[in-house]
Amino acid sequence: MANTSTDAAFVEFERVQKSYDGVSLVVKDLNLSMPRGEFLTMLGPSGSGKTTCLMMLAGFETATHGDIRLGGTSINNIPPHKRGIGMVFQNYALFPHMTVAENLAFPLEVRKIGKSDREEKIHRALGMVQMNDFAGRRPTQLSGGQQQRIALERALVFEPELVLMDEPLGALDKQLRETLQFEITNLAHELGITVVYVTHDQTEALTMSDRVAVFENGRIQQLAPPDQLYEKPENSFVAQFIGENNTLMGEIKEITNGTAVVQLDGGDLIDAVPVNVTEVGERTRVSIRPERVEMNKERLMPGARTLKAEVLEFIYMGDIFRTRLRVAGTDDFVIKTRNAPDQERLTPGTQIEIGWLPEDCRALDA
Ligand SMILES: Nc1ncnc2c1ncn2[C@@H]1O[C@H](COP(=O)(O)OP(=O)(O)O)[C@@H](O)[C@H]1O
Ligand SMILES: [Mg+2]
Repeated sequence: MANTSTDAAFVEFERVQKSYDGVSLVVKDLNLSMPRGEFLTMLGPSGSGKTTCLMMLAGFETATHGDIRLGGTSINNIPPHKRGIGMVFQNYALFPHMTVAENLAFPLEVRKIGKSDREEKIHRALGMVQMNDFAGRRPTQLSGGQQQRIALERALVFEPELVLMDEPLGALDKQLRETLQFEITNLAHELGITVVYVTHDQTEALTMSDRVAVFENGRIQQLAPPDQLYEKPENSFVAQFIGENNTLMGEIKEITNGTAVVQLDGGDLIDAVPVNVTEVGERTRVSIRPERVEMNKERLMPGARTLKAEVLEFIYMGDIFRTRLRVAGTDDFVIKTRNAPDQERLTPGTQIEIGWLPEDCRALDA
């Protein structure tokens, strides 16, 4: 590719729409801009359009409207073999009749890379995943994790500038998944490649990515670094999709200087950050993370509003305690506390008061 500058957007979606049947849009007005070297994850429920976006980027599907650019050039004008894109899928997709070495040689042969060069690249690729001893085996003689390591190296061996991965760890057990998550991010950073990664697993998205695009129904609901996505969700969908959340329904009573007073349906008043609510009288869903709820009044701001709560259930989880409360008419309000030596273990039936810092409570769309 001609453009090798690092500052310009490397991958760009501009107002992209996609319809398979000419009637309904499965991708709606999608805009996205990625710099070189970024690890970006598309996260969202099944059917939200993630794979479709990846396929359009790879060139296996065409956009119905809009433009997709790679290194500043519209993707339609770049022949597939010159796109420099590596791909990894969930089901390994290794060639079963070829050995590991032959699988890795394939993308190099397609690109007319000479034999000695090829052997050196294959050797290095196998070394990166500690699999040099497996060069002569066939895929059926490998475990799932080993197959996926080879699939990964097959996508990397020709040194692509961009690698697309569609739920590559979905078929593996939890422990292996976590090991490979770590290996993939390390490899990506070591090689300086740009990655678009697709998953429906939010933990995977949060731990691996520079930025995460949360998909819902063909749209990106929020695109942000993991900490921002978790701590500052911009709407109810993102707040509920990422991590655990307490939600309370109410109505905006007042908005002044970046603070909203919300009257909960049970009648109590609380302070919240108005995120995507603008008017007095508007319905809102407020959201508070379980670990940001405070039971110790001394740690709240002077004059902070509190709510009465009744302990319904105490669950000992080892590192943390999970306590379920009845608050403002709901029975599923959860708080998480660290298992510290001085941390109280609450018994059901106990009446307590809870509060939080106003900035941890977000007034979102109802
Ligand atoms: N080849 C296809 N033909 C028709 N509809 C498709 C095709 N591929 C995907 N879809 C539809 O497009 C929507 C988005 O699918 P997809 O991009 O696979 O979502 P995700 O990867 O987020 O699960 C779904 O409603 C799906 O049924
Ligand atoms: Mg998919």
